[in-house]
Amino acid sequence: MKVIVGSEEKISALIAEEFIKQVNAKPNSVLGLATGTSPLGVYANLVKANKEGRVSFKDVVTFNLDEYIGLDGTHNQSYRYFMNVNLFDHIDIDKSKTHVLKGVGDYLAYANQYDAEIASFGGIDLQILGIGSDGHIAFNEPGTPFDSLTHVAELAESTIVDNSRLFNDISEVPTKAVTMGLKSIMNARKIVLIATGINKAKAIKNLLRGDKTEEVPCSILQDHPDCTIYVDEAAYSLVK
Ligand code: F6R
Repeated sequence: MKVIVGSEEKISALIAEEFIKQVNAKPNSVLGLATGTSPLGVYANLVKANKEGRVSFKDVVTFNLDEYIGLDGTHNQSYRYFMNVNLFDHIDIDKSKTHVLKGVGDYLAYANQYDAEIASFGGIDLQILGIGSDGHIAFNEPGTPFDSLTHVAELAESTIVDNSRLFNDISEVPTKAVTMGLKSIMNARKIVLIATGINKAKAIKNLLRGDKTEEVPCSILQDHPDCTIYVDEAAYSLVK
């Protein structure tokens, strides 16, 4: 794993450039996307680059990592809604080529065919990840098998607490999600992970200095052949 340390502004811009490079080299790239606070700066840079004509997303295909069970795509905390308002609504992407797991209705059937659907497009070329304070990636919480594909997951208590900042009340945070598995993520050809803030420092230390164990889901990335970790000083502070 490569590590790049810089301000949130700097690392967001660098990751955006990786996406721009990828899409300009292969206009029908398959991109793996994340939600949450971490990728917001990256998405803002992509919107800007698209408006400036530096990149076009019109042939791009996207797959998102996860979705809360119980929230439909119009709910303002659903990940489909997040992707629309923070990226898709502002770029020239064809929304029919954007895939987000379903949180309601036949969500299980959709989840069960998600990995095959990704494979049918040739697999993910470039995947962006955030990381949970407990070391989760997507919603793969501690204890998730390394060979997991897309599945239903129970959110850890710490994740519910972390994510409650975005809801009116902690009781509104869904307790379950559908998520790409650890193996689904490892199938991506290239991975970039972004982490900022002291709340992520322990997870980053475990990722970069800890053992590879299912108790630390992100530690599986130690085996990925092309994975770069982008951190700010605070998230990196326990590593030095
Ligand atoms: C979101 C996702 C999660 C987040 C993680 C960090 O699609 O997969 O693993 O990346 O919970 O969230 P933030 O960025 O809000 O700190």
